[in-house]
Amino acid sequence: MLVSAKEMLVKAKAGHYAVGQFNINNLEWTKAILTAAQDMKSPVILGVSEGASKYMTGYKTVAAMVRAMDEVLGITVPVAIHLDHGEYEGAKKAMMDGYTSVMFDGSKYPIDENIEKTKEIISLAHARGVSVEAEVGSIGGEEDGVVGAGEIADPMECKRIADLGVDMLAAGIGNIHGKYPANWKGLDFSVLAKIQELTGQMPLVLHGGTGIPEGMIREAIHLGVSKINVNTECQLSFAEATRKYIEAGKDLQGKGYDPRKLLKPGTDAIYNTVIEKIKLFGSEGKAE
Ligand code: 13P
Repeated sequence: MLVSAKEMLVKAKAGHYAVGQFNINNLEWTKAILTAAQDMKSPVILGVSEGASKYMTGYKTVAAMVRAMDEVLGITVPVAIHLDHGEYEGAKKAMMDGYTSVMFDGSKYPIDENIEKTKEIISLAHARGVSVEAEVGSIGGEEDGVVGAGEIADPMECKRIADLGVDMLAAGIGNIHGKYPANWKGLDFSVLAKIQELTGQMPLVLHGGTGIPEGMIREAIHLGVSKINVNTECQLSFAEATRKYIEAGKDLQGKGYDPRKLLKPGTDAIYNTVIEKIKLFGSEGKAE
C-alpha cells in the first residue's frame, strides 16, 4: 500500500520504535525489501537517491515499478517511496513523478537559505500529500556523490526547521554514511537529547544506519529517533553472497549463469538483512 511516510512515522514516534528506510538500486532490491516488510508486517520506506533514480532511468520508472510491484505482490503494509538526499529541483521533480515522500537536503546552505528552500518544498509537497524530510548539520562520509563534513547539528536550528511543519528531521549527530572508521567517536546522545527536547513530537531520522552498534541504535530510538536509514549494509550483504556464489564456481555449473540464479543469493541476503533490521528497530508487527 503506497502512502506518504507521515502517518507511519507519527505512529512510530508515539510507539517508541523506528521504521527502516532501505535504499533500492534495482528490481531485486525492491522485491527483497517489500517482501521482507510484508513478511514482518512492518511499515517500510524505500529510499532512492538521485543517483539510484537516474540509474533506474528516472523517477517515473522507479515510481511505476514500485507501484506495480506493490500491487502485484499484494503488499498490504504501508510503503513510502522516498527521495534520499534530494536537491531542490530533484525533490520537486520526484514528487511530480510519483514519489510519495521526499528529502530536501539543504544542509549545504546557510541555515536561513536551508529554511527558505525547505519551506517552499513543504508547501509544494503537502499540497500533494507528499511527506518531507529536512536536514540540519550534516551526515559525514559520502553517499552517491553527496559528501558531508559530519557537522553536528545545532539544536536551535533543528527547532527552527521543525517549526516549519516538516514531517521528519535528519540531524547530524556524528553519524556517517558507509562504513564507520575504527576511531569513530560514536553518536552524540547529548545533542540528540537536546534536539528531542526542543522538537517534541517531530520524528527524528538517523542516517548512516550501517555499522552502528545495536546498543546505540536502541538508545537513539529511546531518545526519539523514529526512522533509520540503511543502505551500505544491504550492498555488503548482496556483494558477499554473490561473491560466494561465483567463488564456489556455481555460475559455471549447469545454467548457474542464468541471471535469475546468479542474483538470487544476493537478493536473499538483502531480504535477511532487512528482516534483522526490522526486528532491531522494533517495527515488526506494527502494520497488522
Ligand atoms: P548507510 O549507507 O551508512 O547505511 O547510510 C544510509 C543512509 O543514511 C541513506 O541516506
